[in-house]
Amino acid sequence: MSHESAERATEAARRYYGTSDVDGFYDAVWGGEDIHTGVYAHAHEPVAVASRRISETQNERHRRTNAERGLDALIEVVTGSFQDIPYPAGHFDVVWSQEAFCHSGDRKELLGEAVRVLDPEGDLVFTDLMTADDTPADAVHDVLARLGVEEFATPTFYRRRITELGLTHVDFDDRSDQLLTHYLRLTEETARRAAELRDVISPAYLESLQENLPLWVNACRSGRMSWGIFHCRRATR
Ligand SMILES: C[S@@+](CC[C@H](N)C(=O)[O-])C[C@H]1O[C@@H](n2cnc3c(N)ncnc32)[C@H](O)[C@@H]1O
Repeated sequence: MSHESAERATEAARRYYGTSDVDGFYDAVWGGEDIHTGVYAHAHEPVAVASRRISETQNERHRRTNAERGLDALIEVVTGSFQDIPYPAGHFDVVWSQEAFCHSGDRKELLGEAVRVLDPEGDLVFTDLMTADDTPADAVHDVLARLGVEEFATPTFYRRRITELGLTHVDFDDRSDQLLTHYLRLTEETARRAAELRDVISPAYLESLQENLPLWVNACRSGRMSWGIFHCRRATR
């Protein structure tokens, strides 16, 4: 992984999430404003939040939703890549991400950037789609093809890299079992609502989803994928 591969992956994600097909499908089926994979949490008291996403299409919807709920003064939505976060070192109490790091072409650089903007007393919390520690990279190429990503991280990679960056307290709540449930439900729902979805997304994209989602189901069923919640901080706190 290198800076060039990070730029390629960033461009691929920008194109992917900017299309009306992907935006329409995510809005209609994958959860709308909040694309969760497994576990659901309560929203807490609003605080100052900065959100960084690569897709201006998604961010426009995000800003509209914030304004409708009276949260726009609290949440700054900034379009751009998480490989390069335009805030000074130590700016945030919490850095939080859900299933976005899987799109990175250079996760070492990405994690370095996440830790750079984190207050030394702060918390890095993220979930991600990963391959299991013992899965060879070439065993999931067909699964990842839809996302334009060459490889996923593993739990061991994250644990090692985050520790190297000084966050030596790393909890990983392994919920890989929920990934199978998630992709089974997504596959069923896409099939059940196929007629309705033809009004929202193109037939070609619907067909590619119906080919790709069962590959995810098989990869989860055979234990090739991993998913869970990382909670990381400096041990000195
Ligand atoms: C699978 S979706 C997960 C969305 C998230 N779980 C949610 O609830 O909204 C992946 C997200 O990663 C974001 N993303 C992909 N590459 C990115 C990058 N280089 N910088 C910032 N965000 C990126 C996309 O915009 C998309 O919202």
